[in-house]
Amino acid sequence: MPVLETQQLTPRIASEVARRRTFAIISHPDAGKTTLTEKLLLYAGAIELAGAVRRKSQQRHARSDWMAMEQARGISVTSTVLQFDVGEACFNLLDTPGHQDFSEDTYRVLTAVDSAVMVLDAAKGIEPQTRKLFEVCRQRQLPVVTFVNKLDQPGREPLELLDEIEKVLGMDAVPQNWPIGGGIDFLGVYDFLRSKVLRFERGARGERAASVPTTGVDDPVLAALLGAHRYETFRDESELLAAAGHRYDPDRFLAGRQTPVFFGSALNNFGVEAFLEGLETLAPPPSSRRSNLGVIEPADDRFAGFVFKVQANMDPNHRDSMAFVRVVSGRFEKGMAVEHARLQRQIRLPRAHRIFAQERETAEEAFAGDVIGLVNPGIFTIGDTISEIAGLELEPLPSFPPEFFARLWPEKVDRHKAFQKGLLQLEHEGAIQVLFEPMRREPILAAVGELQFDLVRSRLEAEYGVTTRLERLGYRSALWVSGTPAEVDGAVWPSSALRAADRRGRAVALFDAPWSEQFMAEKNPGLELSRTH
Ligand code: G4P
Repeated sequence: MPVLETQQLTPRIASEVARRRTFAIISHPDAGKTTLTEKLLLYAGAIELAGAVRRKSQQRHARSDWMAMEQARGISVTSTVLQFDVGEACFNLLDTPGHQDFSEDTYRVLTAVDSAVMVLDAAKGIEPQTRKLFEVCRQRQLPVVTFVNKLDQPGREPLELLDEIEKVLGMDAVPQNWPIGGGIDFLGVYDFLRSKVLRFERGARGERAASVPTTGVDDPVLAALLGAHRYETFRDESELLAAAGHRYDPDRFLAGRQTPVFFGSALNNFGVEAFLEGLETLAPPPSSRRSNLGVIEPADDRFAGFVFKVQANMDPNHRDSMAFVRVVSGRFEKGMAVEHARLQRQIRLPRAHRIFAQERETAEEAFAGDVIGLVNPGIFTIGDTISEIAGLELEPLPSFPPEFFARLWPEKVDRHKAFQKGLLQLEHEGAIQVLFEPMRREPILAAVGELQFDLVRSRLEAEYGVTTRLERLGYRSALWVSGTPAEVDGAVWPSSALRAADRRGRAVALFDAPWSEQFMAEKNPGLELSRTH
C-alpha cells in the first residue's frame, strides 16, 4: 500500500505523538483490572482519577441496579477513557467494559488502541473472556504486555503459566521478572533487566522494602537473602528459562507474537511501578493506519480520526449522544473544520470532550493516539472517518463473532415502520447485528453480549416509541457461508442449524453446539466459513 505523502511535519505534533501510549486492559472479571488501573493512576500522580476508579468499582453493584432502572428509560452504560502522564510518556487507557457490560463495544475498543495489557489471575491463568479479547488482539497483531496478578495468594506455578500462554495463545512468553516463593511464602520478584530483587512485605501496601542489587542470578547475596531452598528453586527455574531461549525481541513483540510478562500483586501495590516503567519502554507509540488513499502516518500534520464508539444518552442531564473518536494523525483543535467522509461534506467540530465516567472536560487540543468525545447530533456512526484530507476513508472496522441470538418484533403492529427504521439505525451504529430468516418477518438480533439486547430494546422505545417483544434463541455461534450461489444452495446443513442471511443477503448459519459447526465444515469442504463478515 502506498504511503500518503506527509505535507509537512510539525515538530510539536511529532513529539506529542511520539510520547503517546494508547492501550486497553484485557482480562476476565475479577483478575484485577480495576485494582491495577487504580494503582497505575496512583503512580502517575493522578490521585483524583485513581479515587474515581475506586469509587466506580465500589459502586459496581449499586451501579448495575442503577443501570437496570435507567435502562428502562433508555439510558445506557458509562464509558471511560483515562489520560495520565508518566515521565515523558502520556498514556491513554481505554476501558474495556466487562461483566454484564460486555458487548461489541468491548471488542471495538481494541481497534482504537496501539497495545494491550493482559491481566491474569495467577491462580486461574487464561480465562474465557481474556481469550476472546486476545483473539481480537491477535487479528490486529496488537502487541500485548502481560501482568500476572495476585502473587500474594497461592497460585499456579509460574512456569506452568508461561506454558499456558504459549500453548493456548500461541505467543512466546518472556518473563521480565520472576517470582521467588509463592502464596504465603511469597518473597518478591527478581528483576532480570536490572538484576535486583524487589522484596515483598506482607501488609506493607505501598511502602516497599528497599530492593537488593545483585551481580546476576549467581550472586551469593541471593543465596543468603532467599535461603538455600528458595534459592535452589530460583536457580533451577532461571536455568530452565535460559534453556527455553526466549529473549525479548521487539519485532516479535510488535507483531503480537511475543509477550513480555511481569509478575506482581496489584492489591499490594507490588511490582506495579516496575510494570509501569516496563510499559513506558515497551508499549509502542501510535502506529500508522491504512486508508483508501494509502498508509497514513500518525505524525502527519493533517488531522484524521475515526469513530469507534457511539454512546447514546450518556448523561441523563444531557440528552444527547457522544461519538468517541480515536485520533489517528495530526492534531485536533477545537473549532476546526474537517471533512466527514461518509456524508461527503465539511463539518465544524466546535466542542470536544475528554470523558471520565460521567464527567466531561473540554478538550482544546488532542494528538494522534488520543480519544476525544464529540457531541453527536446524529451525524456520526461507528466507523466514520473525519479528517483534513480530502476523500480519506480509514480502513473499515472489523465485525465480531456474535454469541447470543434472539428474535425481536414490535408489540404493536402499527409501529412496524418505526421499528424497522430504528433497528436499521442501531445496526449502522454497530449497536447490534441483524439477521433475517427466510419466510419470517421478525429479524434475529445477533450480539456479542446480552446487554446489547437490553440496550436495543430500550433505545427503540426511548428514541422511536416502539415497545418490543424478545424471544431468546438457543444458538451459540454463527458462521458466514461464502461460495457460489450453487455451492451455498447445495450445502449440507446440520439439522439443528438455522439458515439465515444478513442484510446484504449473505448466508449465515446459526449453531447450538460446536459439533454442529464441525459437521457443517466437514460436509462442505468447498465452502468458506467465517466467524465474522
Ligand atoms: P476486575 O476489575 O478485573 O474485575 O477486578 P478487581 O480489580 O475489582 O479485583 C477483583 C478482586 O480481586 C477484588 O477483591 C480485589 O481486591 C482482588 N485483587 C486485586 N488484585 C489483587 C492482588 O494482587 N491480590 C489479592 N489477594 N487480591 C487482589 P474483592 O473482594 O472482589 O473486592 P474488594 O472488596 O477488594 O473491592
